[in-house]
Amino acid sequence: MSAKLIDGKVISEFFRVEYKLRVDRLIERGVRPGLAVVIVGNDPASQVYVRNKARACESVGMHSEVHALAATTSQDELVAFIEKLNANPAIHGILVQLPLPKGLDDRAVIEAIHPDKDVDGFHYANMGALVIDESRYPPCTPFGVMKMLEYENVRVEGKHVVIVGRSNIVGKPQAMLMLKAGGTVTVCHSKTDNLPRFTRDADILVAAVGRPCMITGSMIKPGAVVIDVGINRLPDGKLVGDVDFESAKKVASAITPVPGGVGPMTITMLLGNTLHAAELKAGLVESARDTMLA
Ligand code: GUN
Repeated sequence: MSAKLIDGKVISEFFRVEYKLRVDRLIERGVRPGLAVVIVGNDPASQVYVRNKARACESVGMHSEVHALAATTSQDELVAFIEKLNANPAIHGILVQLPLPKGLDDRAVIEAIHPDKDVDGFHYANMGALVIDESRYPPCTPFGVMKMLEYENVRVEGKHVVIVGRSNIVGKPQAMLMLKAGGTVTVCHSKTDNLPRFTRDADILVAAVGRPCMITGSMIKPGAVVIDVGINRLPDGKLVGDVDFESAKKVASAITPVPGGVGPMTITMLLGNTLHAAELKAGLVESARDTMLA
């Protein structure tokens, strides 16, 4: 058996076509959705991510601005900068690229972003809303995973969803979204004893641990849907996920590749959240996002 490929680029394009129409509708009303991306320091990988985010905004007609601040920026300076963006009516979404350089407090910086503009969904207020099913801004990567499953008509309700990884950015919010969709959720992580015991029982397996190729075909239940959130660069420069694609595709019924799987969806959901922020501001929508699977 060879698994069906879940193509994040194709699914992203599907959503971006709809977003473009919604951006046009806002522009007709005199509102152009705007995203400000803040990057501190010169991490090359972060610079690539930030550039891709800005480019994606432009592809759907949104305004974007990238603010590159020196690695020597102090906590107070960064917070003051964010407060200016909070007050800027042309900016509907603010994203501070993580991780921040040493000496800056990621959590305090995230809390400085106004929750209405927190399109990453990382602010306490938005994380809390996610837990009680009222999220306006579901974090982009786990939300992108839900949208991929929805697009592929993968039913979550009643299924055993096993998530490997417990980060604040992916694992934990992914668990909340899967619960909301009616899944029975197990969250595993680096300390889990006998990991294959859990992964082999998963109908839907989400790998988000940041360890290259650690989930192999023998750890997957035949016919499972496998979502690989990992992006790991090997010493030879090759990009691989957390799943060993070659062995996994022989066992799974469907699988996301790396690159070209979850990655493009993360950026697309960022556009969706920014658009939603602008629509909220313009009074076009109510507050909660539709995070349920159909
Ligand atoms: N760094 C890696 N992933 C992310 C993300 O989703 N948002 C932000 N702000 N930084 C990141």
